[in-house]
Amino acid sequence: MSNNIFIETYGCQMNVADSEIVATVLQKNKFNMVFKPEEADIILINTCSIRDNAEQKIFKRLQELNSLRTKNKKLKIGVIGCMAERVGEEFFEHSVEVNFIAGPDSYRNIAEIIYKSDTERVSDILLSDTETYEDILPKRTLTNSISAFVPVMRGCENFCSYCVVPYLRGKERSRTTDSVLKEIENHINNGIKEITLLGQNVNSYHYNNTNFAKLLKEIAQKFPAPRLRYLTSHPKDLSTELLETIAKYDNISKSIHLPLQSGSNSVLERMNRKYTKETYKKLIDNICKIIPECTISTDIIAGFCGETEQDHKETLELMKYAKYYYAFMFKYNERPGTPAAKNFKNDISDELKTKRLNEIIDLQQQLSLNHNKQDIGKSYKVLIEGYSKRSNNFLMGRTSQNKVVVFPYDELTDTKISAGDTVNVKIIDCTSATLKGVIIA
Ligand code: 5AD
Ligand code: SF4
Repeated sequence: MSNNIFIETYGCQMNVADSEIVATVLQKNKFNMVFKPEEADIILINTCSIRDNAEQKIFKRLQELNSLRTKNKKLKIGVIGCMAERVGEEFFEHSVEVNFIAGPDSYRNIAEIIYKSDTERVSDILLSDTETYEDILPKRTLTNSISAFVPVMRGCENFCSYCVVPYLRGKERSRTTDSVLKEIENHINNGIKEITLLGQNVNSYHYNNTNFAKLLKEIAQKFPAPRLRYLTSHPKDLSTELLETIAKYDNISKSIHLPLQSGSNSVLERMNRKYTKETYKKLIDNICKIIPECTISTDIIAGFCGETEQDHKETLELMKYAKYYYAFMFKYNERPGTPAAKNFKNDISDELKTKRLNEIIDLQQQLSLNHNKQDIGKSYKVLIEGYSKRSNNFLMGRTSQNKVVVFPYDELTDTKISAGDTVNVKIIDCTSATLKGVIIA
């Protein structure tokens, strides 16, 4: 058997980090990574189940990849990640032949799973209470950028009523502090300039006496060079200790992702979010007081079960209060097996969900534009990520507030700068999505 592996990743940053773990395990087992599906003997798709359309996209992609079998009769296709966990062995009844499936806690066995699939279809989707892959030290082979994702904890026990994640990624478990520090050091030695600490709920990180605030503090002190980010914080446990740590260290990004989901107390209660709009507003006040320059982003769900026009209005009101600079916005999608699917009626029509979602999107665009306009005339340190999408005459990077900045750059006349460098940029214009600036000394 030839051992050329191609991995395609869908969904969240956790999946990107997981694909690096899978790639590292496979390379240790003498598999060879390739970067085009046409060159592969084995294709792995790392999947997401959060909404139905994410799953439909994967089924479509499987059909496309299946056509490569006309040229390569021995091509194996494996599904890994959340969808392997959720759909399980039903994949083996799908019209596209899937050779093996592996859930998020089975990546240590991935080489054996592939070997075993020579003779039979293999399913390994057992969840673990302890697996953190902390000893794997993933090499960054799949993405070619200046940043690395470092999972500090896995799993989720929040059980928001709409969400399928706790059933697919199992119990919360944190890595040892030492293994996190070691992995970061490894990335820095390999030239990484930005580290994003990951967890379904990073604030629940807990190892011996180290909570997330202490972990972040230790990393910020030990590694002053790279920019530090973290995703995602649950509003129920964003502590003042954490906010004070973020304020204190220059190298910690001044940007917090704080999913709201809804601005109505009755909806929040049905969602089992464990906070009220009043406590959420207090959090926003606390962030602004302790870190005045901090930007805040969010996730919002439109049209959850029983959502009234008044509930929806309260969401819009809270968005205005929080002045988010960015938001991920979704229509509620019922997921099988979740408490919301079992206990509440998915009673908002798709039409109304779309209408409310559009109102949320329109408002967010205004909020983003207003936010960006306030940056005009100010100067920011920008960590360069590469050329802008539109033109090689412009570079693109991000501020500590996580805002995207583009600025002109002439390779012939400007001093040599490239991805990974930090430059001072004065903001002269903006859209709702981007700041535009010029390099200053
Ligand atoms: N329907 C719509 N959006 C959802 N999310 C999670 N589950 C669902 C669902 N069933 C959104 C939440 C979460 C983000 C990752 O995805 O806003 O914060
Ligand atoms: Fe899902 Fe809530 Fe856990 Fe996020 S915190 S993964 S929305 S259950």
